[in-house]
Amino acid sequence: MARQYLVAGNWKMYGHRASIEALVKGINAGLSSLPKVQVLVCPPAPYLAEVAHSAGVNLAVGAQNIAAQEQEGALTGEVLGAMLKEVGCSHVIVGHSERRALFGDSDAIVAQKVRAALIAGLVPILCVGETLAEREGGQTEEVIARQLDAVFALSPTASLHKLVIAYEPVWAIGTGKTATPEQAQAVHQFIRGRIAAVDAKLAGSTRLLYGGSVKPDNAALIFGQPDVDGGLIGGASLKAADFLAICTAAQLQAV
Ligand code: PGA
Repeated sequence: MARQYLVAGNWKMYGHRASIEALVKGINAGLSSLPKVQVLVCPPAPYLAEVAHSAGVNLAVGAQNIAAQEQEGALTGEVLGAMLKEVGCSHVIVGHSERRALFGDSDAIVAQKVRAALIAGLVPILCVGETLAEREGGQTEEVIARQLDAVFALSPTASLHKLVIAYEPVWAIGTGKTATPEQAQAVHQFIRGRIAAVDAKLAGSTRLLYGGSVKPDNAALIFGQPDVDGGLIGGASLKAADFLAICTAAQLQAV
């Protein structure tokens, strides 16, 4: 089954109202030449509603985090999936390595967040990836299998048909060190195989994004790999021209 490329910008905790308005305007202006790519931006939470309002029909909006809980409640500081959905989000990033490393998002919590996203009708973008020490210790597959299996243990595969997975090697995030196309492909192939072990059909339809120092000059080679269906872009998504150049690299693969 052919998968449509997805290119997602993760703006992390960067920007302010004026810079974000300018960025959305710049990205919107370039989207008409990218009909074959699904483009998504994930701004900081306070700007979600505004960005969703100003985004053109071809620009999807996602959140960077979601409460693990599935119902409203006395949970100061948390944001319910239904709230994200109501302000115009269609996607949510779950289990980004910064959340796992800095905010205690364990595999179990990440699995709950995936389930909370699905219940709210949001597409979860589940991030998985190994640290440098884990790669050097030969544990890459073991770590990723554990991260994936936690999600499969909590959500039946029938509920995961919209799940997107982003492979983001921790050592490549914001470091300028990108995985080689071969390294990315090897892990993506492993992830697809792991999904196939629980549900062959799901393995064929799940989009696998690569993230970690994707830039305009390396995007084409990465997107050209058979099991890479798009990218999760951090730093380079904060400049409209660079982000659009990366989207264009995906568009060229899609034809
Ligand atoms: P980067 O970030 O592109 O700046 O490496 C990717 C991410 O953290 O999603």
